[in-house]
Amino acid sequence: KGKRAFIAGVADDNGYGWAIAKSLAAAGAQILVGTWVPALNIFESSLRRGKFDESRVLPDGSLMEITKVYPLDAVFDNPEDVPEDIKTNKRYAGSSKWTVQEVAESVKEDFGTIDILVHSLANGPEVTKPLLETSRNGYLAVLSASSYSYVSLLKHFLPIMNPGGSSISLTYIASEKIIPGYGGGMSSAKAALESDTRVLAFEAGRKRKIRVNTISAGPLRSRAAKAIGFIDMMIDYSIANAPLQKELSADEVGNSAAFLASPLASAITGTVLYVDNGLNAMGVGV
Ligand code: NAI
Repeated sequence: KGKRAFIAGVADDNGYGWAIAKSLAAAGAQILVGTWVPALNIFESSLRRGKFDESRVLPDGSLMEITKVYPLDAVFDNPEDVPEDIKTNKRYAGSSKWTVQEVAESVKEDFGTIDILVHSLANGPEVTKPLLETSRNGYLAVLSASSYSYVSLLKHFLPIMNPGGSSISLTYIASEKIIPGYGGGMSSAKAALESDTRVLAFEAGRKRKIRVNTISAGPLRSRAAKAIGFIDMMIDYSIANAPLQKELSADEVGNSAAFLASPLASAITGTVLYVDNGLNAMGVGV
């Protein structure tokens, strides 16, 4: 029987979340996505108007179907957490049940269970600032949006994940090596995410036989990456210096996620899988 995937962090057809959705759909999975509330209207209307049809084409020529789009803000766990200014904000007021707990409840009501959980989101108000210039609030915000959001998603979805299921997040090598410009505590957030991958692999493995892995992806010109401001330089650097001298395509990360989610990876958990043309293995640029 086909598997069901929930992918958090899809709001256009440029990012890793979209590519992962496509690879999972191509492998026969049913696709549910969680879209950041402020981006929901544009995403849904673009989908409806066929703006993504070209990028929905799967290898067999059919179009990827997104069975349901859920509004989501992964910074809030339940309605009690939502401050007044967000509740009354007009970009949020039009949607409901978008906290992590409510989305998990809605998915349970609609579909019962899932097999695959993907976290493909990150956000930090000060990512363009060096760490030395990052405020406490900026640092806590990036950890909340980019690291705890994963703990919270897995915590709330775990009870509806079928044993043998798989959970995947996206990380970046700035967690372990200096990448100047990846600022605002985003490097710290990725370090937390990678450490949590190991601890969560233990806890979710013992509790429900769920595997937990993260993909350390190379640079991609996504919306989030463009906001950091140095993405073209990182892509050029990778092409110049990596063992495989080609631009990384989002599909290559999507296919790796499909592998990790499949029974082919049934003994793989708690790992950081590099999907970066091998750049992580280089000691110096040549
Ligand atoms: P993207 O812009 O396609 O994805 C980020 C998504 O996060 C967006 O859809 C945005 O709406 C959503 N989001 C932000 N705050 C949210 C919140 N509070 N609740 C729910 N959704 C929220 O960009 P990209 O680059 O594909 O990012 C996906 C993941 O890949 C991120 O974890 C990113 O750090 C990671 N990554 C990206 C690399 C790159 O070069 N683009 C390299 C390595 C990792």
